Amino acid sequence: MLVKQFKYSMDNLGYLIYSNTEGVVIDGGAVEDILSFVQNRNIKIKYITNTHLHHDHTSGNGNLLKKTNARFIDCKKIKSDQELHIDQETLKIFHTPGHTDDCITFQADNFLITGDTLFNGTIGNCFSGDLDAFFKSLKRLISFPKDTKIYCGHDYVMESMQIAQDIEKDNLFIKEYIKKYNSELIVSTLEDELNVNPFLRFNEPGLIKILQQNDILSNTELARFKAIMEIY
Ligand SMILES: [Fe+2]
Repeated sequence: MLVKQFKYSMDNLGYLIYSNTEGVVIDGGAVEDILSFVQNRNIKIKYITNTHLHHDHTSGNGNLLKKTNARFIDCKKIKSDQELHIDQETLKIFHTPGHTDDCITFQADNFLITGDTLFNGTIGNCFSGDLDAFFKSLKRLISFPKDTKIYCGHDYVMESMQIAQDIEKDNLFIKEYIKKYNSELIVSTLEDELNVNPFLRFNEPGLIKILQQNDILSNTELARFKAIMEIY
């Protein structure tokens, strides 16, 4: 299964997941770019869906549906651990609530489409207010193999690395991560994220020390995650 990323509206990222003849559009705000890409390759858009229902992610749905014969899949109605089939291949979907209650993540081969749940370098705002659910979602995401590619919903890389550096001044991975930044293709691996993304580093001795220095006693990983969310 192949992933094509489309940037639109400054920092939004949408995707076409495709195989030989069929594809799924996820957060298709870049309508014209997507249509010309599929036309050039004779790919039929089978489904149109979203990582969640925030307007900046759903803005392309209407136009894409008008211009294709694709079926719309409302992410609110998707059952967790559901599958979509493109040609003979499988795209798995599971719920990752936290940023919003309706957030879902797509997974196939060695990649995840994480929307506004997990960004490259940071995580989404917890608009649902349910930090416990958000933590559980992130735990599921980081349980995938370390070489899993992370494709997210916005390019917030440079701002995020500024914050990461402010939090962990001695983290040498951050410089390496910044060096790899390419505004044409926003992607990292789970390993990269575990090395630099402060919101996933709740079990890192360095970050635990920083919390302790701020007089935050956090004995569980959930408490540390909440503390990091609260401070930053
Ligand atoms: Fe969002």
